[in-house]
Amino acid sequence: MREDLTAVAGPLLDWYDKNKRALPWRGTRDPYQVLVSEIMLQQTRVTAVIPYFLRWMEELPDAAALAAADEEKLMKLWQGLGYYSRARNLRKAAEMVMGRFGGRFPERYEDLLALPGVGDYTAGAVASIAFGQAVPAVDGNVLRVSARVTGMDGDILDPKVRRRFRTLAAEAVPKDRPGEWNQAWMDLGSMVCLPNGAPLCGFCPLAGLCEANRLGLQEALPVRRKKAPRRTENLTVYLLLREGRAALRRRPDKGLLAGLWEFPHVPGALPEADAAEPLPAWGLTAHEWRKKLDAKHIFTHVEWRMTGYVLTVTGGGGDFTWVGRDELEALAVPSAFGKFLDEARRALKEDI
Ligand code: ADE
Repeated sequence: MREDLTAVAGPLLDWYDKNKRALPWRGTRDPYQVLVSEIMLQQTRVTAVIPYFLRWMEELPDAAALAAADEEKLMKLWQGLGYYSRARNLRKAAEMVMGRFGGRFPERYEDLLALPGVGDYTAGAVASIAFGQAVPAVDGNVLRVSARVTGMDGDILDPKVRRRFRTLAAEAVPKDRPGEWNQAWMDLGSMVCLPNGAPLCGFCPLAGLCEANRLGLQEALPVRRKKAPRRTENLTVYLLLREGRAALRRRPDKGLLAGLWEFPHVPGALPEADAAEPLPAWGLTAHEWRKKLDAKHIFTHVEWRMTGYVLTVTGGGGDFTWVGRDELEALAVPSAFGKFLDEARRALKEDI
């Protein structure tokens, strides 16, 4: 086992200088941009984040603009990225920067930690990348690479093991290039030291220092305890069309996909014979059943299996908002309903 990562810095930074990815948030040390990029990158792939980051910076170029932005605009800018509480926390963080910190971004690691949505990893990333402080930013990539390099076989989901890696990383951060050092781990983790037993050790600048490579344990490390299985929820979703408009409703302010817009649905998988059941409670009568449209969406802790129906209706009532084509584009509808959204676009274009 290797208990010291200091020998890593030289080869890792040389490799980074030659191979680093050109990413839109890498041309700046503006802490606002660094924070937004790091929050977007939590749980989301780099290629998916890039267009969102660019659009966000055009619309909300600084903390003042973000603090003043309205909720609907935020949700629209975030639509499709998932984990929407990240966007709300970012706005709260911007409000705190403008309020408690008087418009100046806090530099100290401890102050950064006080910002909503900012934990050890993000505080480390912002402090090192924007402010050049010698602190580590240990995310899943860094845990994987360092578990392999050190050969440590503790469960990387165990907080004690994470703390141990964090300490090792903290001892090894080079004082002259901490931000680049942290990002070099991330690039190595996503370009070379790949997850799921597929590292490209032949291309790795750390192969000569790596315990997993020496012992042939690349496939076995990191060790990760099995997660609890995901719950499955069945729902029946309705694309209800009425006079060139589709029914949407706003989700509650708390919980999964809080405050976003959704297509009406009921719990359970209703077969075609029973599909009209919820309509009377919504004050609606089916006019023409158009098609069945099933979909599936996987969240972290739950999987939605959606039985869907597309139909035209008459009547009204309930708490629906009937939207035309343009309003549909203005509202934030999460990707979980992507198939229904596409179908609604098609139906509204045809003007039903
Ligand atoms: N993943 C998380 N933060 C990142 C960054 N700054 N660059 C590349 N990948 C990342």
